[in-house]
Amino acid sequence: MLQVATPTATEETQTVIEIEGRASLRGEVRISGAKNSALAIMAGTILCSDDCRLSNLPALADIDKMCQILAAIGVKLKRDGDRLVVDASHVGHGPAPYDLVSQLRASFFVIGPLLSRLGMTKVPLPGGCAIGTRPVDLHVRGLQAMGADVHIEHGVVNASIKGNGRRLTGAKIYLDYPSVGATETILMAATLAEGETVIDNAAREPEIVDLANFCRSMGAQIRGDGSSRIIINGVEKLHSTDFPIIPDRIEAATFLCAGAITHSEISLFPVVPDHLASAIAKLREIGPEVAIDAPDRVRLIPRDLRGTDIETLPYPGFPTDMQAQFMALLAVSEGNSVVTETVFENRLQHVAELQRMGANIKLKGNAAFIQGVPFLSGAPVMSTDLRASAALVIAGLAAEGKTIVQGLRHLDRGYEDIEGKLRKLGAKLTRIEQPVSL
Ligand code: EPZ
Repeated sequence: MLQVATPTATEETQTVIEIEGRASLRGEVRISGAKNSALAIMAGTILCSDDCRLSNLPALADIDKMCQILAAIGVKLKRDGDRLVVDASHVGHGPAPYDLVSQLRASFFVIGPLLSRLGMTKVPLPGGCAIGTRPVDLHVRGLQAMGADVHIEHGVVNASIKGNGRRLTGAKIYLDYPSVGATETILMAATLAEGETVIDNAAREPEIVDLANFCRSMGAQIRGDGSSRIIINGVEKLHSTDFPIIPDRIEAATFLCAGAITHSEISLFPVVPDHLASAIAKLREIGPEVAIDAPDRVRLIPRDLRGTDIETLPYPGFPTDMQAQFMALLAVSEGNSVVTETVFENRLQHVAELQRMGANIKLKGNAAFIQGVPFLSGAPVMSTDLRASAALVIAGLAAEGKTIVQGLRHLDRGYEDIEGKLRKLGAKLTRIEQPVSL
């Protein structure tokens, strides 16, 4: 009889965050550079055959992965804290290794720059993730409109430019949906195309404007970014630049929710208040006040919490990336709330975990019907995706008793030292090794 040794609990462990709830917070939290801006801009450095120097990069797993992907296609990188020097003078055609690309959807952002720099490239399809299938059809159709021959085989997108000196041609492109990624792909590719490109129904997120500012700092001719019509006049070559990444509005909104749910007065710095307009408006509807103490500093003033309705929309609508965090807050806000997720098809998985903590939420399609409860109760909970994991941490801060948040690989993708920042504010939480309950 084959004896199979079953691992004892002590042999298999997992890293979790253990939170002692009901602690109030105070003080100021430093907001890191914006993940979703940094990832697109890192891809954008491929457009430049000289070196680019980026600063205010957040220390995140996703940034590390993007560095690995760039290095795998021949980009030279020098990282020093929040600074990154990128030399893409000898970038190769790709493809970047699938095992890296499949872990980071943003890796697909390299396709536009590689194609416009080299005239051809191969990039593995990024595939879906927990929140949805994440297609790239709008990216592909945009590149095809600019003269690229694009076909997909064996899970790899092969793109090349026949004729015209292997240079893309400016085109008038209408996006069926204001996709952030597709807008970024087309915008980057158009900076080196021949002639004018117009992107209609473009995404308007602050990360698009930051990317456009980055490209302009290299000599690109772009206008209209931040509106739904972006016009790019292609140039022959782009030059070196030094560029700081904007503060992360999603991290800022996450901390505002942490302050609101623990009835704590906390300050956030640096932030761009304009980027938080919808989050601030919703917080004021729920009860807390948000004071703008300086052009780059906001302060949450706690108030009693009452329910409201939220529908996620493309910017300047309420961001889908803030939906889970606000749902945790609404779970303990008096009265009824309805949260409708319209951007991604599967971004309500945190509901089941919040229910385990005592939240009263009913799911109907893409809408969550919430009845506020006085308290949540601490419990072991599982992260399903990046923003869901942040929502569970927020819920744990307010819950009675102990919450154990598992699945930290999601959290570490998008939050730089979140437990260190929360501990500095007075939260009681630690990252520990815990036996995996088999
Ligand atoms: C970016 O993803 C962000 N990621 C996401 O943040 C964010 O949630 C999303 O924009 C919306 O704001 C990065 O910037 C790295 P989309 P992206 O293209 O570009 C559909 C986080 O938590 N679509 O605007 O992938 C798509 O399926 C992450 O930080 C197509 O149908 O988002 C989705 O339903 C999560 N075809 C909708 O558009 C396409 O070709 C919005 O996607 C592209 C997108």
